[in-house]
Amino acid sequence: MEPLLKVRQVCKQFPGVLALDHVDFDLAPGEVHALLGENGAGKSTLVKIITGAYRLDSGTISIDGKEVRFHGPVDSREAGIGVIYQEFSLVNTLSVAENIFLGDYPMRRGRIDWKAMNEAAAELLQRFAVNAHPEDILTSLGVATRQMVEILKVLNRKNLKILIMDEPTSSLTDTEARTLFGFIRKLREQGVSVIYISHRLDEIKQICDRVTVFRNGQKISTEPAHDLSVADIVTKMLGAELAEHYPPKSKATGAPGLQVEHLSGPGFEDVSFVARQGEVLGITGLVGAGKSELVETIFGARRHTGGTVMMGDVKVDPKSPRSAVANRIGLLPESRKEQGLVLGLSCAQNITLASLDKISRPFLALGEEMRLASEKFETLEVRPGDPQNAAVNLSGGNQQKVVLAKWLTRDCRVLLFDEPTRGIDVGAKFQIYAMIVQLAEAGNTVIVSSSEIEEICGICNRTLVMRNGRIVADLAGDELTKEDILAAISRGEK
Ligand SMILES: Nc1ncnc2c1ncn2[C@@H]1O[C@H](COP(=O)(O)OP(=O)(O)OP(=O)(O)O)[C@@H](O)[C@H]1O
Ligand SMILES: [Mg+2]
Repeated sequence: MEPLLKVRQVCKQFPGVLALDHVDFDLAPGEVHALLGENGAGKSTLVKIITGAYRLDSGTISIDGKEVRFHGPVDSREAGIGVIYQEFSLVNTLSVAENIFLGDYPMRRGRIDWKAMNEAAAELLQRFAVNAHPEDILTSLGVATRQMVEILKVLNRKNLKILIMDEPTSSLTDTEARTLFGFIRKLREQGVSVIYISHRLDEIKQICDRVTVFRNGQKISTEPAHDLSVADIVTKMLGAELAEHYPPKSKATGAPGLQVEHLSGPGFEDVSFVARQGEVLGITGLVGAGKSELVETIFGARRHTGGTVMMGDVKVDPKSPRSAVANRIGLLPESRKEQGLVLGLSCAQNITLASLDKISRPFLALGEEMRLASEKFETLEVRPGDPQNAAVNLSGGNQQKVVLAKWLTRDCRVLLFDEPTRGIDVGAKFQIYAMIVQLAEAGNTVIVSSSEIEEICGICNRTLVMRNGRIVADLAGDELTKEDILAAISRGEK
């Protein structure tokens, strides 16, 4: 069958990086095609070339056998290509309905037909089982819900022929992901082709027909998904077998490092626990259970409505992130783009941003800044490896590593990680796990909030399980297993 989309010998050079090196890629009508590869392999760049967001240096792109030249996203949109980007493209100050219909508002007698728009949005939200109201303002919604709105916005388009999804499920609950897969299947039946990018390799076999793997800007292979195991895919991605999944756990446990007593706030209630120095304490549960709200409140980024937080004998009132930082509490936030990085600054500047006290004595010691940044670049294998690059030019996963580096550089005694490996490729995850355990072994109190139950079991000494804003289990030792965690989540009580 003639491919719907045909990419031939496409090259794209960025200063110092050949992001795409003579790439060929075919998308068949009505197929779901996975695009996989390590952080920085070139996946998002290919997407941006296909949509016309970036110009290609050489090569051709054809749709239905005809060569196309898109000069921008508007052209590709007209040709029936829809994209859900890794970075949100929503307007936070507008409502859900306004975002879904952005640029294409239903009109009536020359005016925006608000009623029709809100009704159509309500229908979409309901069909997709998204827990939001058409008139909700985006800022009032959580990351997962915003991601669903982003998806609805594209699915709402009538001329959709090719749907490209760049890590769409990284902030969705399992239920939402399943709803999304159901929708993708329906689209496929209607003849829409899908390009699907994800670092959650277990999803690939559930939803994809074929798999293309990229490494260092080159296409390595295209194969039917049912011929491949997850291990095969990993080997192709890395060019070698993955040696280890998890480092040995922390063996140090000391005095209480953080005591949370009867803490309540929006999204969670009456939470009490003690986290010890030297241990990695997990907080798990489904997306939406209140984990992020809890850690953000401990950090002072949200207001608590009751309870206390202590560090040893000292009462720390989580009033603001500034006071948390003064108390040497650090948070790696869930939505890194908004909370973690200044995109216009260099990576080195981003990394030292939260520890200027270390490098200014009293003048900014630029050599020290570079030294700190280079050290972290090496351990976390950030690519490209020059800390002087602007953060905006890094691939999604490498940006995550820079945010992580920023918090690792700061002298914190209590470190809160919220979904630390989201968007990180399988190879680099190990480095991050190793650093988390190292931080604990050095005597810090480390709390990891994650909905990836496997990683909780892999690195934590103990985990709390949350459901509907409450702690429903505290598991350690033999009880720290996937089965016990799932049982606690579904039982929903102590
Ligand atoms: N605008 C840009 N300017 C300079 N370099 C860029 C730019 N965009 C991407 N790159 C570089 O091109 C390479 C490929 O990046 P790309 O974003 O395509 O990776 P990716 O496969 O999507 O990775 P991830 O899984 O981390 O999202 C990387 O080395 C990246 O740093
Ligand atoms: Mg990407």
